[in-house]
Formats: sequence, C-alpha cells, structure tokens
Amino acid sequence: MAQRTLARYLTEEQRDKGVITGDLKFLIEIVSRACQAISVAIGKGGLGGVLGEAGSDNVQGEAQKKLDVLSNDILLDANEWGGHLAAMASEEMDLPHLVPHRFPKGEYLLTFDPLDGSSNIDVNVSIGTIFSVLKCPEGADLSTPEAAEKAFLQPGTAQVAAGYAVYGPTTLLVLTVGDGVAVFTLDREQGHFVLTQENVRIPEETKEFAINMSNQRFWEAPVKRYVDEMVAGKSGPLGKDYNMRWVASMVADVHRIMTRGGIFMYPMDEKVRDKGGKLRLMYEANPMALLVEQAGGAATTGRKRILDLQPTHLHQRVPVILGSKLEVERVTGYHCN
Ligand code: AHG
Ligand code: MN
Ligand code: MN
Repeated sequence: MAQRTLARYLTEEQRDKGVITGDLKFLIEIVSRACQAISVAIGKGGLGGVLGEAGSDNVQGEAQKKLDVLSNDILLDANEWGGHLAAMASEEMDLPHLVPHRFPKGEYLLTFDPLDGSSNIDVNVSIGTIFSVLKCPEGADLSTPEAAEKAFLQPGTAQVAAGYAVYGPTTLLVLTVGDGVAVFTLDREQGHFVLTQENVRIPEETKEFAINMSNQRFWEAPVKRYVDEMVAGKSGPLGKDYNMRWVASMVADVHRIMTRGGIFMYPMDEKVRDKGGKLRLMYEANPMALLVEQAGGAATTGRKRILDLQPTHLHQRVPVILGSKLEVERVTGYHCN
C-alpha cells in the first residue's frame, strides 16, 4: 500500500470528510516544510553555528537563542508568499506580521511558538515548534500590525487546526484538524512526513506527573494538595505510586502524555502571578489544549477550560493543567471546591 504522506492524509481529510479546505491543506503542508527546515538546522548543531544566544531579548523580556530567531524566520519566510494567510503572530515578535503587499492574502491566521524548550537547545534535549490556525474574521482591520492584533483574539474553540513538531531522536509532526489527532514521522531520506499513528488516545487515568518541583513553595493550595497526594503514593489518598518526569520542553512533555498518558502542570504560582501564568495562551496553551482534547484528554487553567478563555492580548499568559482526563478533573475540582 502507498505510504500515507502528510499531503495524502490532508487530501483524504478534505475529500472524504470535508473537514478542511484546499487553503488549509496548503497552509499545513507549508508549516510542515518549515518544520523540516528547522529540524535540519537543529540537526547541524555546533557544526552549523546555530547554538547559543542571539544576543537579543524578545517582547516578553526573555533572552533569545539563535535557534529561536532562525526558526521564527523560517516560519515567516515559508508562509508569507503562498496566498493562504492574512497574518501571523509569534511568541518571538512584538506585533503580528502582516503579509507583505506584493503577495496575495488568504483567510487564515497562523500563530506559533517557533522553538519551544529553548533551555534545552544547547544540551541536546528534545525541543519543538507549536502552531495554531484561526480564521481571520471578516472585515478585520489589517491595515497595521497594531490593528491586526484584534483579529487574533479568538477563543481556542475557534482554532481550525493545531499541531506541534517535536525534534527528538526522530522528528514528528502531531496534528489535529478538529477530527482526532494523527502523528507523522519525518522520513529524512525522502524529505516528507509519513503517517505513523492515527486516532491518538490519552488514557483517562495516569501514574505519571510533570511539574517543575522547584516552584513548590510558590504554588497555590490545590496544586500543593494534589502533588502531596501523588507523592504519598500507595499509602496516600490516591492509593497508587506515581512517577515524575519534567523535560522542560512543553512539546516533549505533552508528547509523552500523548503517547502513554500523564498530567502536565504549569499552574498559577506566586512567581508568575503578575504575568497571569508562565505559558502563552495563543502559542502554547490553546494549540496544546485542542490537541489534548481531541485525543480524549482535558486542559484547564485549574479553574476554567483553556479553550473557552477569551484572549485579552496576543502575548497573554495563563496557568496550564492538561493530560489524562480524570486527573485533570481531580485537580481542577480541588481549585473549585
Ligand atoms: P519557550 O522555550 O518557548 O520559552 O518555552 C519554555 C516553556 C515550556 O516549554 C516548558 O514547559 C517550560 O517553559 C519550562 O519552564 P521551566 O524552565 O520553569 O522548567
Ligand atoms: Mn514554548
Ligand atoms: Mn519558544
């Protein structure tokens, strides 16, 4: 049987289920090409001179790595000319990037975290790219980058596609177009992604949790209680022993949960309260929440479903708790009681 490449899969989704348009198919295909180019750059490592600091800060005041900047440029260059996009927004850019006048414009908006897990670049641990696609509201003002911000401020439920690439021992693309979650593996020799798993399901229960334990003293009471209960193991109220994993690349932590279940938490804490949380709603929380829900899991801030949040600004940060449904519901329940 012929290999089901990403392009073939998208064509089948379009033809058989009618869930995507030709432009969306093209957009996802272009994003996947950009992820391949990022994967090649990452693979060169020290040989390609891509490691280390870029010497600049992003809009959030974080030091940019060379690969943050390079990955952002690759995604912009790949996407701006094709006629499928109205604008793009990125964790690494202050304002939205409008499609230049010399290129045709389309009906979609693309947001991305070009390189997730930057602290792992120089230590050769898995990193990734996260992206989300929205429809541009009709009549949206795209006359200036400042005006264009408003078009992006749509709740996560409005996403028409979301995905991530994980650059690990293999490069994978994990995708939803609102019809379940599929995993594609990069065939490096052939230069394309091939479908390797469909209908990804996250087990409802788990014995594995992911949280940065060094923030323990800053957590709120409900998260403290839940983690204490997990750490208490078999003799505690949850009656089972848990294991802990924290890669510190959200992409890698979420991919583990996609593969074998678990719960991931970057909750509200006293250190990040002023900013609203650590992770970014438009570039990290929303796309991951859609993927996790599409795989049968759940995603909340601890108090609300992430996909229902009405964004107030492009670079908004939120608390994130996602993964195995029953565990997310348990700790969310602790917040609401
Ligand atoms: P980014 O590299 O895009 O800034 O994102 C890093 C995020 C996320 O990937 C990860 O889960 C978290 O930050 C790690 O935070 P700590 O360094 O506090 O562990
Ligand atoms: Mn990130
Ligand atoms: Mn990033």
